[in-house]
Amino acid sequence: MNELGRLEDLPADYVEALRKLNLVPLWPSLRAVLPPGVPTRRTRATAWSYGTLRPLLLKAGELTPIEKAERRVLVLANPGHGLEKMQASAAIYLGMQLLLPGEWAPSHRHTPNAVRMIVEGEGAYTTVDGEKCPMSRGDLILTPTGLWHEHGHDGDRPVVWLDVLDLPLVYYMETSYHVNGARQVVRPGHGEQAYARAGVLPTPAFARSSKAYPMLRYPWADTRAALESLAADQPGLDAVQVSYVNPETGGDAENILGLHALMLRPGQTLKLPVRSPAMVFHVIEGGIEAQIEDQRFTLAEADTCCAPGYTATSLHNRRADKPSFVFIADEAPLHKKLGVFEVRD
Ligand SMILES: [Fe+2]
Repeated sequence: MNELGRLEDLPADYVEALRKLNLVPLWPSLRAVLPPGVPTRRTRATAWSYGTLRPLLLKAGELTPIEKAERRVLVLANPGHGLEKMQASAAIYLGMQLLLPGEWAPSHRHTPNAVRMIVEGEGAYTTVDGEKCPMSRGDLILTPTGLWHEHGHDGDRPVVWLDVLDLPLVYYMETSYHVNGARQVVRPGHGEQAYARAGVLPTPAFARSSKAYPMLRYPWADTRAALESLAADQPGLDAVQVSYVNPETGGDAENILGLHALMLRPGQTLKLPVRSPAMVFHVIEGGIEAQIEDQRFTLAEADTCCAPGYTATSLHNRRADKPSFVFIADEAPLHKKLGVFEVRD
């Protein structure tokens, strides 16, 4: 590949004349923005131990009342992007949120899409678009773009969940904002009960739901059972994996980030395909090793790590006698919509 001209090869007065007119020569920066073969990724393979961050999150509960925080969150920030950017990858934001018994995180809505993966505790709930969604370990709750949501806690111990948002992307597009609202009126019915069994859908008087987000809570008990059924049905299947989808369309549950759950059989090592999107792994049950290119992370239950795109990644179940379960979020729906999605092997 031939070397391109550098900025310092140009006369300083020429560069200055360009700058005064808000002009920049492309060729000194061309290889940086269009590198050969593989994109430059600021996202670094990074892991966050729940056991290490938990006391600091609980300390935040002592230091900052909910009224002063609105959402009491420690952001899992990727050092490759700079901690102040508060992003795990180009498009993914991760935060561990604490709600203490009796606390109330008031209703708001915003343009970024969010999901909650419940990490610890019982008795809290999120009301989304008038639907009260109980929060238990491993449950996935959607709070998609534009839908009102608020969090309450009727239990007696701290509740913690992992927030996964497309905030970095929506902020980058200069489309990120929120609106505060009044406490929601809870209406009866739960999406997960209406869509409790695969293969059949509610069709009152032959009508299908046209809601963009017909199901807002995906209980872990159901997702886990689906993985176990799949594993039992297909004993030779390597990747025992399901994706969280809109049950009416089969499409991704949200527009920008993809959401999946994976079961690793006892002692299994699973090589994942090398794909363009960055990924986040969160251990729901068990313990794994994540090999991300030449870095190895040992993850215990409730630990989280992220991997940049275009990266060889494999996951190993550290338990020899039991399966381990992993929640995965990725940027695949975004890449597919933009036409840049790739699988390299
Ligand atoms: Fe929110």
